[in-house]
Amino acid sequence: MTKKRVAIIGVGLTKFGELWEKSYRDLITEAGLKAIKDAGIEGADVKELFVGSMSPGLFAGQEHIGALVADNAGLTGIPATRVEAACASGGIALRQAYTSVISGQSDIVVAGGVEKMTDVPTGIAMTALMGAGDEEWEAFNGATFPALYALMARRHMLEYGTTIEQISMVSVKNHANAKHNEYAQFQYEVTLEDVLNSAPVAEPLRLLHCSPITDGAAAVILASEEKAKELCDNPVWITASALATDTLALHDRKSLSQTNAAIIAAKEAYRRAGVSVKDIDFAEVHDCFAIAEILAIEALGFCKIGAGGKYTEDGHTKIGGERPVNTSGGLKGKGHPVGTTGIAQAIEATLQLRGTAGKRQVKGAETGLTHNVGGSGATAVIHIYEKD
Ligand code: COA
Repeated sequence: MTKKRVAIIGVGLTKFGELWEKSYRDLITEAGLKAIKDAGIEGADVKELFVGSMSPGLFAGQEHIGALVADNAGLTGIPATRVEAACASGGIALRQAYTSVISGQSDIVVAGGVEKMTDVPTGIAMTALMGAGDEEWEAFNGATFPALYALMARRHMLEYGTTIEQISMVSVKNHANAKHNEYAQFQYEVTLEDVLNSAPVAEPLRLLHCSPITDGAAAVILASEEKAKELCDNPVWITASALATDTLALHDRKSLSQTNAAIIAAKEAYRRAGVSVKDIDFAEVHDCFAIAEILAIEALGFCKIGAGGKYTEDGHTKIGGERPVNTSGGLKGKGHPVGTTGIAQAIEATLQLRGTAGKRQVKGAETGLTHNVGGSGATAVIHIYEKD
């Protein structure tokens, strides 16, 4: 039986950063219209839309997002649904859109993501973000996401001898990549010393180990194989979508130094796409904190569990290395508008496979992967992409 495929035929991204002059609705409308233009279709061709947004009520005072987005894009009438899975909301929106197309429900579907986080002070943003943790056991007792990832970092250092220098090299690499991404929040390089000497946030994590608070939106247009062949010269194919879950609270996990949902989702994604780790040419992974990239590359099987620090130190995840990771700059350098991130990752995969990633281009890229996580790892959604 021939494998059914879903194509990405258009992409649209806003600049990421502290965007005082743009509202929540401005951002998602801009990304959506750019994606429609890039696909060379009309708004009227869109049959359905899904938008990932984690906490628009707390960040921007707006709910009822599906209808809002359809309204602002001039698409009223079509089914429009907001999906939420914390920082994996964008990845889940992509999965919902993929499912709609592959099931035959709709042949052209928009998957978007949007968050406007900087209109509230950091303390309020942190409270909103902690809604993704366990309210009764973690948030109520004062835990924040930097604190939870700091526990994971400490455990990884204790169990595997991972050093703070190795963890910091993730930030150095991702800032270096973000320098070449015009949409990134931080288009500048940092040195190892800068990272190690930046302000402490939650020991051992410092400012330059953390993703920032970000405004931004992203959208992709998905199409059935039939429609893609009719409309598009350079489709990028999504060949697998896999989702898995873990306990919400960190203390309930078997291990603090492994991300089980990502391990399960990765195996399922490779199986569905019929590929193995050695076929993956590049990946965009969820480096909300630098340690999270090390946990991600281990979960994806790029190296053995526990060897992520060394794999990073050896330069394997740099552009030009064995398997470049976060060529976009990742969440650390590009920014992390939480509900947007999963879609922005899919856009970087598309640019890489189209061969239009400029100075960030991975030579000869044919197969890519995105790894998008919610909370401290309770949701993991992985997609695999291939070109013809
Ligand atoms: N990396 C690099 N620089 C950062 C930064 C980051 N993560 N966060 C803020 N900055 C910079 C700002 O650009 C600003 O620079 P400037 O003075 O040159 O303009 C400066 O640091 C102060 O910014 P501010 O917004 O006041 O920082 P803050 O102390 O309020 O917030 C963090 C810093 C780390 C606490 C905040 O970014 C944070 O909570 N990050 C994690 C977000 C998160 O948990 N996401 C979900 C993941 S699961």
